[in-house]
Amino acid sequence: MDTTTYKTAVTQAFNSAAASYDRMGVEFFTPMGRRLVERVAPRPGERVLDVGCGRGACIFPAAERVGATGRVLGIDIAEAMVTEAREQARRQGLANVETRAMDGEYPELPERSFDVVTGSYSVIFFPDAPAALARYAKLLADGGRLGFTSPVFTPDTFPFLPPVFTELIPRELLRNLPPQWQPEELTRRFNSWLADPADLVRTLADAGFHTAEVVDEEVAMVAESGTAWVDWSHTQGMRLLWQHLPERESGQLRERLITALDAMRAGDGPLTIGVPVRYVTATVTR
Ligand SMILES: C[S@@+](CC[C@H](N)C(=O)[O-])C[C@H]1O[C@@H](n2cnc3c(N)ncnc32)[C@H](O)[C@@H]1O
Repeated sequence: MDTTTYKTAVTQAFNSAAASYDRMGVEFFTPMGRRLVERVAPRPGERVLDVGCGRGACIFPAAERVGATGRVLGIDIAEAMVTEAREQARRQGLANVETRAMDGEYPELPERSFDVVTGSYSVIFFPDAPAALARYAKLLADGGRLGFTSPVFTPDTFPFLPPVFTELIPRELLRNLPPQWQPEELTRRFNSWLADPADLVRTLADAGFHTAEVVDEEVAMVAESGTAWVDWSHTQGMRLLWQHLPERESGQLRERLITALDAMRAGDGPLTIGVPVRYVTATVTR
């Protein structure tokens, strides 16, 4: 699959997911985005660019922090995500938020026009994220900060999923994924710069950043039930797997996941899983 076809597949997956994305009774992206914004701490009056903004997990906490004199621009390759975020900003009466459909890997925006660039669980979708980081350095004004999140990858990590789920997914099903998300390709793509914090710090230095900090922290993923979790998984990146599974395999995986996840609940209580998330922050070198 070439890069254009891959990006079209990602765009279609997130366009189809947008209406229910992060609105399915599972808390994960919203608390992660809020925590990332806390870590880069935009100040009143600052200009924030959120790359791969989705429905705004970073946009809204950032808008709160920069206040009326600042502004937040959210960009996403999936037009439907951008529309959802824009509608929410309108409903909340936020005049300091703007959203645009744009490829976040190649942002067409003026140099030095932002104080903060964020990207929560989004730069991992780029075919060449390190090159994109260098473009973000150019977009930042002097002293500007970068912050992004990613899964904490291990050799066995299933794409989009925390390690705890890896054992629940039969390995042969992964063969149905687009080539870019095959385990070997993921390992090649991420192990070169993201899996080892030392590589990550070096990559950021090459991209034009210093004082890089890599902190792994758990986000408490809370789902009402195994069924709620599986339904939710169709509304995020894992949709790429579901849509590539034959009907029979899809049904079997659904049942298997629901049974295993419900077994992790305490009685009728919700399912709570500590999911390790990597928070990366750095300051532009200038
Ligand atoms: C897992 S979602 C995260 C969304 C949001 N940041 C959040 O935390 O809820 C990944 C997002 O990245 C977007 N994305 C993937 N590739 C992109 C690209 N090349 N340019 C811009 N956005 C992209 C997807 O459309 C999707 O909205």
